Amino acid sequence: MAKPNKDIKKIGISTGGGDCPGLNAVIRAVVLTATNTYGWEVIGILDSFNGLIYPDQIMPLTIHEVKDIHYKGGTIIGTTNKGNPFKWEKKKPDGSVEIVDYSDRVMENFEHLGLDALIVIGGDGTQKIALQFFEKGMPVVGVPKTIDNDLSATDITFGFNSAVRTATEVLDKLRSTAESHHRVMVVEMMGRHSGWIALHSGIAGSAHAILIPEIPFDIESLAKGLNDRAEKGDKYSIVVVAEGAIPKGGEMSAIGKSADGTIHLGGMGHKVGKALEELSGLETRVMVVGHIQRGGSPTEFDRILATRYGEASVHLVAARDFGKMVALRGTAIKSVPITEAIGETKKIYPSGTLVKVARSLGIQFGDE
Ligand code: F6P
Repeated sequence: MAKPNKDIKKIGISTGGGDCPGLNAVIRAVVLTATNTYGWEVIGILDSFNGLIYPDQIMPLTIHEVKDIHYKGGTIIGTTNKGNPFKWEKKKPDGSVEIVDYSDRVMENFEHLGLDALIVIGGDGTQKIALQFFEKGMPVVGVPKTIDNDLSATDITFGFNSAVRTATEVLDKLRSTAESHHRVMVVEMMGRHSGWIALHSGIAGSAHAILIPEIPFDIESLAKGLNDRAEKGDKYSIVVVAEGAIPKGGEMSAIGKSADGTIHLGGMGHKVGKALEELSGLETRVMVVGHIQRGGSPTEFDRILATRYGEASVHLVAARDFGKMVALRGTAIKSVPITEAIGETKKIYPSGTLVKVARSLGIQFGDE
């Protein structure tokens, strides 16, 4: 056992934002490292920071609770992508909503639970909240998660690889039906304002066109491209559309907005499918892959990355290196200030390597 940090005896762990494959693998690595290496007690805070707003929203985590969870999707301690303690939407008896600041209450509950540190697993939104608590005096360490892979401070977030695996399997399965019916299949992928899932799965699944937020598309140019393929004898086409894809001179397709201003994306696949069919005359079907990209067992890659992140986050706590987030840089796990992690959304460079590779293969981006 490593020399225990005498100041630290008990730590908390929380999972926030949309779930993704690999969360349980991080939880397991944290509990095993904290227990075996340092002899600390670990508790899970239920449903992200919400678990610190009300008393007893916790789950003791011993080696027993984390046994055999490494391959399970979701999170055993729950999550939410709603509810910011600094801007809590409190329902009043008359049904109206009042915005209240519960951050002091969270700090009090943190003290009351006797926690010496909190490991916060989450994406951009969750890390922003973690940073606010760090600035209020809570010792936090972040772990980057999201299927979208859009956190700029790390090369890869865990969950992304598994989402790409699922999205690619979908493309593989749609191929035979597209081919048999000589149809265009339009497939909408998640990813918010970045096209990472669409681009990676589109290349891995050999799509014929990929529309991503970073490269605004012209629907007429895309329709012409698909007609050209058909004239050359290619009887079917697969078009991957990132949910955040943007038509030239147009806007993203949103299906709603949260009180905190978060835009819920969706609908671009159907818009593209309808317009393509009208313009090209080719029979078209649309599929929205949706939340299965967040489900299922993590890939081996994500299990290892999640495990490395979990282990490294415990050592950061032991070193009392708070306000930091673990990150993958090349092949090494490093730590970066959370401020850096939430600075900007990581986007695809339109002239970057993977886009070039895709273009060399003849994949269209609708901008030609
Ligand atoms: O950030 C992960 C993500 O799955 C995005 O790709 C997607 O836009 C969003 O969450 C969906 O969120 P919800 O679970 O609220 O529908």
